[in-house]
Amino acid sequence: MILVTGGAGFIGGNFVLDWLALHDEPVINLDKLTYAGNPETLQSLQGDPRHTLVQGDIGDRELVAQLLTQHQPRAVINFAAESHVDRSIHGPGEFIHTNIVGTYELLEAVRQYWQALNATEKEAFRFLHVSTDEVYGSLAKGDPAFTEQNHIEPNSPYSASKAASDHLVRAWHHTYGLPVLTTNCSNNYGPYHFPEKLIPLMIVNALAGKALPVYGDGQQIRDWLYVKDHCSAIRRVLETGRLGETYNVGGWNEKANLDIVHTVCSLLDELRPRTDGKSYKDQITFVTDRPGHDRRYAIDARKLERELGWKPAETFETGIRKTVQWYLDNPDWVAHVQSGAYRDWVQKQYA
Ligand code: NAD
Ligand code: DAU
Repeated sequence: MILVTGGAGFIGGNFVLDWLALHDEPVINLDKLTYAGNPETLQSLQGDPRHTLVQGDIGDRELVAQLLTQHQPRAVINFAAESHVDRSIHGPGEFIHTNIVGTYELLEAVRQYWQALNATEKEAFRFLHVSTDEVYGSLAKGDPAFTEQNHIEPNSPYSASKAASDHLVRAWHHTYGLPVLTTNCSNNYGPYHFPEKLIPLMIVNALAGKALPVYGDGQQIRDWLYVKDHCSAIRRVLETGRLGETYNVGGWNEKANLDIVHTVCSLLDELRPRTDGKSYKDQITFVTDRPGHDRRYAIDARKLERELGWKPAETFETGIRKTVQWYLDNPDWVAHVQSGAYRDWVQKQYA
């Protein structure tokens, strides 16, 4: 049995689906079901006795303690977070609350549970914290990619809150001996990605005939990894990672945002051409830049490859094609996440 938090979100949802496709080990899935949590992502698991979705907050120590006592998991994997940088700029409060205070409460509940285990269970137990490359700050052109030795220099309320949570996890290992692992991953893309993030937003807006809003000059660089490769890296770190270590996860796929948008448009031109014969690129609009926008992220994932033998399975070309095709094949999933709350967000951000 494992306990996953945030398993109705983008990466957590993919993780749970992949886990149960590969193992029979059951999953308790604790998710607050915020705007970003969507049980429809897990629809194929309905009636599957190996999966239990519990609606609740990682900050609810009593609830977490009760779940741990009842289900006796051998590991906790923490995906739960507020994850969208732009939302953190408009309203940092929720980010502090969930990402920092929530992680603290979760760590305390897990520590109490872990301390009461017998010696064998105690040794086998793992707490894996899923974090981001954004904690390292921003790179200039030509700088080497982030390694695990880089300084932590977060620039947005989101990345600062994630950095704080990473520090708490580290401290719970050094002070209390909690057997933790941390992963710092680059930008993910793939199925079930909420359409407030760059790639799904561009696909959804393109198909709806709407503007494709590119921030600033569109030359900011991100390092893209197909979500299922992130999930395989987490499984590898969980099983073979060294306690107390952090592992960078990335796909060696640095791309400028404008190139990403062009690629999405070209794939849509091929797979679902516009009825007027024009390219979706005509819908690109340059809009005001994100405040404090990090210019470049790049992940050096050699430690994970060298120590644990992990490599991504997808190239950007194969992964982005699968992703665009998935959105074309799943219009109902998209329609259902575009709730009232989603429309309010789009109005606030792009008005
Ligand atoms: P997401 O926003 O799609 O999903 C987050 C999930 O957490 C949602 O299901 C939400 O309901 C749940 N949640 C939020 N607050 C909660 C709380 N207090 N208690 C319980 N559940 C709560 O995020 P994602 O993109 O899937 O990211 C998952 C994790 O991976 C995050 O920790 C994020 O920082 C990290 N990460 C994301 C990326 C990326 O590119 N998306 C890259 C690296 C790391
Ligand atoms: O690097 C990992 C991080 O990647 C994760 O920790 C975050 O949870 C995840 O949201 C993501 O953060 P980004 O800010 O990089 O992702 P986002 O999709 O919001 O933006 C990607 C880039 O595209 C960024 O440079 C901003 C730009 N952008 C984004 C949107 C939504 C645009 O140009 N236009 C847009 O409308």
